[in-house]
Amino acid sequence: MPDTPFEVEVVRRDFPILATQVREKKLCYLDNAASTQKPRAVIDRLQEFYSRENANIHRGVHHLGELATDAYHDARKTVAKFLNAKSDKQVIFTRGTTESINLVATSWGRANLQKGDQILLTAMEHHANIVPWQLIAEQTGAVIKVIPTNDRAELDLDAYDQLLGEHTRILAICHISNSLGTLNPIKEIIAKAKAMGVTTLVDGAQGAPHLGADVQDLNCDFYAFSGHKIYGPTGIGILYGNQEIMENMPPYQGGGDMIQRVSFEKTTYKGLPERFEAGTPNIAGAAGLAAAIKYLGQFNQADIKAHESALLEYALGQLEDIDGITLYTKAVARTGVVSFNLEGVHAHDIATILDREGVAIRAGNHCTQPLMKTLGVPATARTSFALYNTKEEIDTLAASIIKARQLFK
Ligand code: ALA
Repeated sequence: MPDTPFEVEVVRRDFPILATQVREKKLCYLDNAASTQKPRAVIDRLQEFYSRENANIHRGVHHLGELATDAYHDARKTVAKFLNAKSDKQVIFTRGTTESINLVATSWGRANLQKGDQILLTAMEHHANIVPWQLIAEQTGAVIKVIPTNDRAELDLDAYDQLLGEHTRILAICHISNSLGTLNPIKEIIAKAKAMGVTTLVDGAQGAPHLGADVQDLNCDFYAFSGHKIYGPTGIGILYGNQEIMENMPPYQGGGDMIQRVSFEKTTYKGLPERFEAGTPNIAGAAGLAAAIKYLGQFNQADIKAHESALLEYALGQLEDIDGITLYTKAVARTGVVSFNLEGVHAHDIATILDREGVAIRAGNHCTQPLMKTLGVPATARTSFALYNTKEEIDTLAASIIKARQLFK
């Protein structure tokens, strides 16, 4: 059970980079939807792995090979527990959310999609949950349908009811919009799809860090997330899958460790999870991700959520009265992100001016060009929160935005 009280100033001391100065200003890191910073527990785990345990897995019988293999297997167990998966066989290590979704689109899609089938996405998806589906649609003749959003950038659930039909084969949907922070009623949405026999995939890249992920409670067939957005290393991610569905999926990539026997006439494959992990995996990354999950696990998830929600509401309050600002984060259910523009100042200029104040935010289309088109803008400035952010940082953000506005007046 989590037993560490959540105190943001204590938490901040666990993240060495937060003490950094940027251009002689205190770093104010508000680009967490792009990538989070790492606690010392993760940094130390990577160093420990490379200093004392490094070798390939499942290959050497030597001591280090055993240590590395144990570290990798333990990491899978830690992730399975975090997700409340029934079995750790259901947890596949990938490079990140993008590779996880590509794996499902390619492997599940080849086995299950044909001409006329429908793939249901939403208007707020990240490119990683659009393009893999377009690739498989081109190959199979399936068509993509899109659930639109209303003027608060929430999903139009009436339109969803209309779109969900006898030809829908898969629903692939984000839990939280990376661009706007809209929190989708994911359980209700999945339940409707499942009732129609539709396979479901949740892009949890933003959901897992802010809300955790209980795949049995969500009742989804696939759940994808990235290590680096949940305080872990880059280059490691997770695909959770329904065991029965995954057992019937063909391999995604071929190579070492996913095979039983290879001959030029016929090759046979291992079962789960190895079948989907060809080649030497990111062993240190898996160990680092497990360290991140254990780090988070010392806190109550509800405390983290409450802290981050309070930051979001405080930020909206601080920003809404700034002259010339347009806020795009309007959904009633929201978390993690505030997206905005400033009249007369391009989003990239806002980000550059804020950087001079030590404030790191992202500007651009946030890999959601279709959503930007819906909003009628090419780009927004986006500030995104993590468990270590503070109200003082939001005050710095607001003051820096006011400065940017004055510079361009
Ligand atoms: N998907 C990441 C973001 O939202 C890169 O910024």
